[in-house]
Amino acid sequence: MKILKWIGIIVGALLITLVVTATVLFLISKQHENETYQIDVAAVDYTFDDEAEMLSLGQHVATIRGCVECHGGDLGGDIFLEDPIVGVLVATNLTSGTGGLGSTYSDEDLIRAIRHGVRKDGKSVIFMPSHEYNVIDAKDLAALIGYIRSMDPVDSSHLPETKIGVPFRLMYVLSGGDIHLFPARIIDHTLPTPEPVEARSPMELGAYVATTCIGCHGNNYGGGTIPGVPPNWPDAANITMGGTLANYASAEDFIHTMRTGVTPLGVEMIPEFMPWPVFGSMTDEELSGLFVYLQSLPPRETGSR
Ligand code: HEC
Ligand code: HEC
Repeated sequence: MKILKWIGIIVGALLITLVVTATVLFLISKQHENETYQIDVAAVDYTFDDEAEMLSLGQHVATIRGCVECHGGDLGGDIFLEDPIVGVLVATNLTSGTGGLGSTYSDEDLIRAIRHGVRKDGKSVIFMPSHEYNVIDAKDLAALIGYIRSMDPVDSSHLPETKIGVPFRLMYVLSGGDIHLFPARIIDHTLPTPEPVEARSPMELGAYVATTCIGCHGNNYGGGTIPGVPPNWPDAANITMGGTLANYASAEDFIHTMRTGVTPLGVEMIPEFMPWPVFGSMTDEELSGLFVYLQSLPPRETGSR
C-alpha cells in the first residue's frame, strides 16, 4: 500500500509540473502576443507617372511576394492554415469591403503592417512573414500599396476569427524563435525602406527576390522541416548546391521546374506546400537571377535550414 501511495504522489507531482509548465509557456506566448510597438513610418517616397505601370508592377509584387497565397487573389482575405494543433489562422481582407481594412488604413498603416509586422492596434501581426518584406524597395512598395487600393471591395464577413491553438502556442515558445508567430519581435525596426534600384545585376535581382523563400527553405536555403506547419507537410528541399540545386544543369531547367512544378527527378510538387504557380510567375530575369544567386551560396547539408 505504501508503494501505491508513493506512486500516486509521484504521478501527481509530475502532472502538476506538466500543468504548471504548460501554463507558463502559454502565458509567455500571451505576453509576446500583447507586446506593442510604436513605429513612426514615413509615407513611401515614389510616384508613378503611369497608373497602368503601377498596377501591373503592384500585381506582380503581390504575386511573387506571396501576398495572394494567403490573402487570396482578390486580396479579400482567406483562412490560410486550419489544423487541430495550429488553430485557425486567417489572413486579413485588405480590400475596402465589409470586414476589410482597406477603407480604415492609411498608407502608413499598410507600410507598418507590411514592413514592420505591426498592426494598427500596435501588436505584432500573427504569422505573416513581414520579416521577409522589409527588403522591398520604395518603388515596389508604392506599387503594392497602389494595387491593394485598386482592388474591388470584397465582403469577408463569412471568415472566422484567428484563433491560435494552445498546442501551437506551446510549440512556439519551445521552438525558441524558430516559429515566427509574432514577426514584429524579430524585425529591425530602424531599417529604412530601401531606395528603388534602376537596374539590378542577375545576382542582385536573385538575392532581392529570394527572401520570399526563406520562410520555408530556411535562412541559408538548406531546407528541412518547416517550423510551425502541420505534420502532413513535406520537408522543404535543400536548394543549395549541397542539395537538389545540383540537379539543375541550367537556368532553363530551374525555370522549367518553377513554372511546371516538376523537379528534374520527376517529382510533381503540390502547390499547397511549394507555391510554384505563384513563384513561376516571376519574370525570366527574376528566375534566372534566383538560379545564379542560389548557385553562388555555400553548399549546405540538407536540413541545415
Ligand atoms: C503566410 C501568409 C501571409 C502572407 C504571405 C502575407 N500575409 Fe498579410 N497577413 C497574414 C495574416 C495571417 C494576417 C493577420 C494577422 C493578424 O491577425 O494579426 C495578415 C495581415 C495583414 C495585414 C493587416 C495587418 C493589420 O493591421 O491587421 C496587411 C496590411 C497585410 N497582411 C498585407 C500583406 C501583404 C501586402 C503581403 C505581401 C507582401 C502579405 N500580407 C503577405 C498572412 C500573410
Ligand atoms: C510555403 C513554403 C515554401 C516556399 C515559400 C517556397 N518553397 Fe520551395 N519547396 C517547398 C517544399 C515543401 C518543397 C518540397 C516539395 C516536395 O517535396 O514536393 C519545395 C521544393 C522546391 C524546389 C524543388 C527542389 C528539387 O529539385 O527537389 C525548388 C527548386 C524550390 N522549392 C524553390 C523555391 C524558391 C526559389 C522559392 C522562393 C522563390 C521557394 N521554393 C519558396 C516549400 C516552399
